[in-house]
Amino acid sequence: MKPARFIVFEGLDGSGKSTQLNMLREHMQNLQIPVAAAFEPSDSNAAGRLARDVIKRKEILSGEALALVFAADRAEHLQTEIIPLLDRGINVLCDRYVYSNLAYQNGDVPLNLLIEYNRASIEKRMPDAVFFIDTPPSVCVSRMEAGRDGQPELFETAEKLASVRNCYIKAFEETGNYIKVTMIDGYRPKEKVFSDVWKKINCLFK
Ligand code: TYD
Repeated sequence: MKPARFIVFEGLDGSGKSTQLNMLREHMQNLQIPVAAAFEPSDSNAAGRLARDVIKRKEILSGEALALVFAADRAEHLQTEIIPLLDRGINVLCDRYVYSNLAYQNGDVPLNLLIEYNRASIEKRMPDAVFFIDTPPSVCVSRMEAGRDGQPELFETAEKLASVRNCYIKAFEETGNYIKVTMIDGYRPKEKVFSDVWKKINCLFK
């Protein structure tokens, strides 16, 4: 049996990363490649649910505490969902992972501390591939405005997203020695974006 792969999609809110993840999942299913989708913050443990409540402004936490909650959710999600799937030979596509924490929480917590918060997950399982769907923050915000019915979530403003993008790039540079990220231009028709994703990744499943 081929080793199962752990593939992560990163990007700003509204970047189209979830669309790409779903396209990849469907494509792999059509090719009869075992695959499951996951997302963070997860909805299967108390830390993930708390993080979602803070994002939706139903709960309030300091930036530092929220960073730890995201990292706690990740540790639990990895241990109870992702690793068991991989152990069964099922490829896992995850919507956000360590890099989201390094980018979104870097306004409140220094990068070296965020890496420490995520140490358990980093040492246990880093992805086999990471895609960063790179879509301009202004485009992300217009897409979200078109699809939203309530008020914006915690990080969904153009200004915040622009600074999150800078933090992603900084995190990629500083951690480039242990994981290679593939940057994909997300401001194109989704089929073109997907064609780049698949070109990069199909060799993992041959
Ligand atoms: P998102 O992927 O947008 O979920 P959904 O499509 O369900 O709204 O993620 C929700 C938000 O959580 C997003 O604004 C980024 C934020 N986030 C962090 O700030 N840190 C993290 O570690 C993770 C996983 C997410």
